[in-house]
Amino acid sequence: MRVLMIGDMVGRNGRDAVKQFLSSKRKSLNIDLVIANGENSAGGFGITQSITRELQLTGVDVITSGNHIWDQKEILGFIEKEPRLLRPANYPETAPGNGWVDLGDIVIINLIGRLFVGEFDCPFKISEEIISKLSTKKILIDFHAEATSEKAALAHFLDGKVTAVVGTHTHVPTADDCILPKGTAFVSDLGMVGALNSVIGFDPDPAIFKFRNQMPTRMKVKQSSLVQFNSVLIDIDDISGKAISISRIDEIIEL
Ligand SMILES: [Fe+2]
Ligand SMILES: [Fe+2]
Repeated sequence: MRVLMIGDMVGRNGRDAVKQFLSSKRKSLNIDLVIANGENSAGGFGITQSITRELQLTGVDVITSGNHIWDQKEILGFIEKEPRLLRPANYPETAPGNGWVDLGDIVIINLIGRLFVGEFDCPFKISEEIISKLSTKKILIDFHAEATSEKAALAHFLDGKVTAVVGTHTHVPTADDCILPKGTAFVSDLGMVGALNSVIGFDPDPAIFKFRNQMPTRMKVKQSSLVQFNSVLIDIDDISGKAISISRIDEIIEL
């Protein structure tokens, strides 16, 4: 089985670039399953019902998320009804929505980090609890976290127990894609699908203002016809559930 995992899609640029990529390459690359992080897909902040449907039509099978999942108010009513739109599993149990989805032969789990991100349940403990209930060996994890150390630690903790641990949230692709000793594929961060020459997909000027003046600032998605597309392609052994290979697919897409 071959899976494509795509980093945080930022605004319309991000969605359009994913659409363009999948329409030309989903078939030619023999991709069986597409997972993409949608927490910034609605104007940079959150996701809506109509954007979820648009991404599904584009060919995204499962949408993961992170700290921005609650940014659009309508998500509260919608997330309960859409099992293929995930929020991190280590939010308190009373939070709406699901943290993982079982597609039959593969399970996708979304987790969020605690270092520099917020106060959540322990991702190590929660992932262990979920995995103990599963019969499938094919398990993919999107670990939405800031610190590379926390992401590497979780990946090593789960080595041999899951197919892949990939990081999201920083919007910056990392070059450490590898297969760990017991067969789990790992990369600290997928990166993003967002405007080239931006500050993590947003206009640089408000970001510069914010950091120089230490004042709250409204961030705006940068509009650009050139989009940075970051993802990894993972080949999975169907019997053992272990990763055979992980390779980055990073492109500049012209819309
Ligand atoms: Fe993000
Ligand atoms: Fe995030």
